Amino acid sequence: MTISAQSFTEPGQDDLADRARDHLWMPFTRHSVYYDGTGHVPVIVKGEGAYIWDDQGNRYLDGLSGLFVVQAGHGRKEVGAAMAKQAEELAFFPIWSYAHPRAIELAERLAHYAPGDLNRVFFTSGGGEAVESAWKLAKQFFKLTGQPTKHKVISRNIAYHGTPHGALSITGIPAAKIPFEPLVPGAVKVPNTNFYRAPEEYRHDEKTFGLWAAERIAEAIEFEGPETVAAVFLEPVQNSGGCFPPPPGYLERVREICDQYDVLLVADETITSFGRIGDMFAMNRFGVTPDIITCAKGMTSGYAPMGAMIVSDRLFEPFKHGTNSFLHGYTWGGHPVGAAAALANLDIFEREGILQHVRDNESGFRHTLEKLTDLPIVGDVRGAGYFYGIELVKDKVTRETFNDDEAERLLRGFLSKALFDAGLYCRADDRGDPVVQLAPPLIIGQTEFDEIEQILRSVLTEAWSIL
Ligand SMILES: Cc1ncc(COP(=O)(O)O)c(C=O)c1O
Repeated sequence: MTISAQSFTEPGQDDLADRARDHLWMPFTRHSVYYDGTGHVPVIVKGEGAYIWDDQGNRYLDGLSGLFVVQAGHGRKEVGAAMAKQAEELAFFPIWSYAHPRAIELAERLAHYAPGDLNRVFFTSGGGEAVESAWKLAKQFFKLTGQPTKHKVISRNIAYHGTPHGALSITGIPAAKIPFEPLVPGAVKVPNTNFYRAPEEYRHDEKTFGLWAAERIAEAIEFEGPETVAAVFLEPVQNSGGCFPPPPGYLERVREICDQYDVLLVADETITSFGRIGDMFAMNRFGVTPDIITCAKGMTSGYAPMGAMIVSDRLFEPFKHGTNSFLHGYTWGGHPVGAAAALANLDIFEREGILQHVRDNESGFRHTLEKLTDLPIVGDVRGAGYFYGIELVKDKVTRETFNDDEAERLLRGFLSKALFDAGLYCRADDRGDPVVQLAPPLIIGQTEFDEIEQILRSVLTEAWSIL
């Protein structure tokens, strides 16, 4: 369709929401709410520190760092300046058989931050592409090293790993996959580490539960045939379902199982890297070295789209000699302006001690959110670092959750909008049991923790009263 020159060239701020409704296709969004008169597209026009503003001048605390992205906070002029400088110097050149300084510097820096012998960086534009790359690398690696039947992957229920076909196969959320079936075959699911929803017999001992969950991976490998399984994909702290930390001993045992069966361990750190859990990579914090890390989001704090797959020297070895090459790549991978943004962002991390700030304040964040457990609707508060999920329940004693209709009314019908209207941007999610998720910029402290707690307290109290 055509639009009038006037509305194109002289946009009044007031009509931005209508123009969004009419032309913008928003991912994972039910557009009907903008057409049936009940909804209005929120238009965010500005960010500063931990706060964002909409086009009506209202201020919100960004309790989700955009989408688990804006670690260093909004409005960092020096990142913009580094990007502008790079755009003037060299806006684009591919790294397909060539290199440029920013991609080299960033690869070296990421290898330095990564655990163990993870030393080789393959750039993508985001997390889903990094996951896709990791599966493809695992397949090609085993083909090159004499185990050509190893191609399957194991991942966990309710985990989200992105939208490309391979990454979506790895994703463990049936509702997100059904419209696109058939997906890539060979993706097997095992239990996640939601201790709150652990089988009854393991509810009272996290360690035993963790070992039980890890053994389900060994069981799946045995069932599929170890000669067919290439990799296990997991997030150190699983996002979808509401922030499941690894129980003590879990990651160590998964590492042992992967070694035993010659299966690669892929840590999908799309969310958990770059300070979210108080280290550049959460796996550093948990003391376990995977074979591959996939990461994105916080690498640039959102100032540019960037992702990466970081792999061990061992996995790169077959590509070092002869005619072999990894037959895979993205035009934007290692983009000079994106890499400049990432380097400037990581400079801020170093200079301001952002990792230490998270470590110094994470227990304050936890304790502040745990105050909410006195509310009848709050069943569980869980997470790590600056990454928390609050599970909402109908009955705290029995842990009874909401049925689909109630969850729909609670989350979509009330909570998402009520929290936003009260000045807190965060996520009310029902991909697993209903949760409210928080992942604020890593620069905040007790004042903002209290603000988050007070808004949640008031809105969750109201939610309970209207149920
Ligand atoms: C763990 C994980 N993997 C992959 C992805 C996909 O990343 P992207 O949206 O950058 O493709 C996400 C996105 O949230 C994620 O949380």
